[in-house]
Amino acid sequence: MKLTVVGGGSTYTPELVDGFARLRDTLPVEELVLVDPAADRLELVGGLARRIFAKQGHPGRVVTTGDLDQAVEGADAVLLQLRVGGQAAREQDETWPLECGCVGQETTGAGGLAKALRTVPVVLDIAARIRNANPNAWIIDFTNPVGIVTRALLQEGHRAVGLCNVAIGFQRAFAALLGVTPADVHLDHVGLNHLTWETGVRLGGPEGENVLPKLIAEHGDSLVEGLRLPRALLDRLGAVPSYYLRYYYAHDEVVRELRTKPSRAAEVAAMERQLLEMYGDPALDEKPALLAKRGGAYYSEAAVDLAAALLGGGGSPYQVVNAYNRGTLPFLPDDAVIEVQAAVGPQGPAPLAVAEVDPLYAGLMANVTAYEELALEAALRGGRDRVFRALLAHPLVGQYAYADTLTDLLIAHNREHLAWA
Ligand code: G6P
Ligand code: MN
Repeated sequence: MKLTVVGGGSTYTPELVDGFARLRDTLPVEELVLVDPAADRLELVGGLARRIFAKQGHPGRVVTTGDLDQAVEGADAVLLQLRVGGQAAREQDETWPLECGCVGQETTGAGGLAKALRTVPVVLDIAARIRNANPNAWIIDFTNPVGIVTRALLQEGHRAVGLCNVAIGFQRAFAALLGVTPADVHLDHVGLNHLTWETGVRLGGPEGENVLPKLIAEHGDSLVEGLRLPRALLDRLGAVPSYYLRYYYAHDEVVRELRTKPSRAAEVAAMERQLLEMYGDPALDEKPALLAKRGGAYYSEAAVDLAAALLGGGGSPYQVVNAYNRGTLPFLPDDAVIEVQAAVGPQGPAPLAVAEVDPLYAGLMANVTAYEELALEAALRGGRDRVFRALLAHPLVGQYAYADTLTDLLIAHNREHLAWA
C-alpha cells in the first residue's frame, strides 16, 4: 500500500507517522510519501519519520519529494494536510477580523473565509493531479476549513472524505471518564465541521445505552474545563458542544481575550521552530512531547482508521467523517457537507440516520451551511461581491457595515493568494 501525505513537511507529520507505526496491523503502509514544497522542513521531518519507523520495526519505506505528480503516482490514498501561506497567513486571519469586533479564528468567521479562499483552488488543483495519476485513489482531507474544502472536492466528483479530530478527541475523553475502552464509546455526533454537538454517548454501538445524561451529571465540571463554557450552559443544553462553539456562545468574551493576548498562530509558530530543531536531532526517534501542545491529538488514529476502512482493510465500522448530507439532516440541502457518524467501507462513507435535531442546533447549522455554500462560490469564482455575500450570511458577521469592511480587509491581506484580486 502506498500512502501520500501532501503537506508532509508539516510539524504534525511525526504524529501521523507514529500512528502508522503503532497501527501497522490495521493499515499496512509499504510506502509513505511525504511531499512538500519546503525542502528544508521536509528533510527534517522526513529524517525523523524514518527514525520512528526504524525504531518501531516498521518495514515501510519513507520517501520525501517536492514533486507532487511523482508523489501521487500509484498512491492508494492521499492525505491532504497543507496550509496555504503557512502560519503567517493564519496570523492575519486571526487578527484583522478583530478590527470589527468579530472573532479572529483560522476556521470560524471571517478568518475562516479567508482560509477557504486561499485553500480551495490549491486543493482542487492537487486533486485533479491525483485523479490524473490514479482515479481510484481516496483523498482524505484534513486541510481546513474541512467542511468547505470537502464540499469543493465532492462537487468536482473526487473520491474524497473530510476528517477532523474533534470527535475522536471526545470519544477518548469520554472513554477515560467512563472507565471503558474508546472503541466502546459511540458518539451521537451531529453538525458541520467545527460546528458540532455530542447529543448522545452510547456504550457498545449506535443502539447502545445513552449515558450522556449521566456523564454530564457526574463529570460536567471536568467536561467544561476544556470547553471553557459555564457548567450551567452544559446542563441546560444536555449536549456537549465542541470547543469551536465557544466562538458562537461566548463570542464577545472570546474577542476580548483575543485582543489582549498573542495569536494562536504566533504560539504555534514558536512551537514549530522548537519542534523543527528537535526533529533535526539524529538521536530523536519518537514524536516529542511538545507536539501534544498542538491541537491535532489523535489525528493519526482517526486517519489510520479512515484509510483502513476506505481501502478495505478494516478500521472501525462507524467513524465520524465529513460527507454529503443527502437527506441525513432533512433541514439541510442534499449537497451540504455534514460531519456525522458514517459506516465507512471501500465504497466510501454512508452516514447513519440521525434522530431529529433540536432547533437550537439545527438553526445554526442551517445558517452556517448557507454561509459555506456562499463561501465556496466566492472561493471558486472570486469577486468582491461574493466575498461580501458570504460574510453577510455568516452568523458571526451579519451586519452590512462589518461585512463591507471585512471584505476589504480580507482582500487586502490575501491579495498574493487570490488570483482574481
Ligand atoms: C484541531 C482541529 C484542527 C485544527 C487544529 C489546530 O485539531 O480539529 O482542524 O487544525 O486543532 O491546532 P493548532 O495546534 O494548529 O492550533
Ligand atoms: Mn478540525
